Amino acid sequence: MKREIVCSGIRPTGNLHLGNYFGALRNFVKMQDEHDCYFFVADYHSLTTHPTPDNLYGNARQILVEYLAAGLDPNKATIYLQSDLPETIELYLFLNMNAYLGELERVTSFKDKVRQNPNNVNAGLLTYPTLMAADILIHKATKVPVGKDQEQHLEMTRTFAQRFNNMYKSEVFPLPQAFNFGGELVKIPGLNGTGKMGKSEGEGNAIFLNDSPEAIRKKIMRAKTDSGPTEMNQQKPMEIENLFTLLKVVSSPDTVEYFDDLYNRCQIRYGDLKKQLAEDMVAFTEPFRQRIAEISGNEDYLRSIMDHGKEKARENARKTLNEVRHVIGYRN
Ligand code: TRP
Repeated sequence: MKREIVCSGIRPTGNLHLGNYFGALRNFVKMQDEHDCYFFVADYHSLTTHPTPDNLYGNARQILVEYLAAGLDPNKATIYLQSDLPETIELYLFLNMNAYLGELERVTSFKDKVRQNPNNVNAGLLTYPTLMAADILIHKATKVPVGKDQEQHLEMTRTFAQRFNNMYKSEVFPLPQAFNFGGELVKIPGLNGTGKMGKSEGEGNAIFLNDSPEAIRKKIMRAKTDSGPTEMNQQKPMEIENLFTLLKVVSSPDTVEYFDDLYNRCQIRYGDLKKQLAEDMVAFTEPFRQRIAEISGNEDYLRSIMDHGKEKARENARKTLNEVRHVIGYRN
């Protein structure tokens, strides 16, 4: 397999839940064995919404802790804070010189933000795509693992890269492509009986990797259920199907079969199912909880990881930037 240069930014927005783990996160962990990976916490991008100084570091730190706890390995991937790589900002400036108002205004995520928050339409928000392009192009990344919602940004990254190459008759930047996991993505349902797990669906809908065992038990016992099957081998309604999906993720196949069989014979007691699911969920998340506590309590270790990541990222970024400055015409 071709070794790719992979780059992805992680938004520092709160704690990770099981859906995040089985989404991007587990794939990051796999990718770091096969490719040259740059993973960073996007703590410049987060300024668009004006976080307070306390929040800024705390949020970045927490997300870093949780990614590390879930298996990101600083000896395999380059893991850093975006704000530790100011080279990105210089490239952002260069890219902004050829990013046009019209195309930036047409970006869907920008239009959404304008609608949601008409009093904070700042230039950082408008140029979010050029900053993201700079994040990616500073490492000459070839693959970017992102969800559907980021594909337009990635398309713009290619536009900016191509435009730069054309303008300076150079081949400085490769055109990065989305890294799609396709069938490997496991969709994790939430606990409220509707769609996928997410924190925007309300407090009790998601199981977070650092939830306490008590919190997990409480959430699962409160999960939505119906009044039970009335006919043999009846199709499960969504909320019950969701509980079984979660059970498949954290329990043994025997356990799943046991409850499935009870369901099909109309003898299931949802209380029992939930108790089992809760205990298996607590066991499944135990290693995450432990590692989160361990890493979070070790500021020296965290600092050393950030420093190491910063060194590696900067070394690579400087090379790109030297080349960029040269083709632009700086001779200092
Ligand atoms: N925009 C991405 C998101 O909202 C985060 C991000 C910032 C990013 N810079 C990036 C992702 C570079 C991939 C590559 O999730």
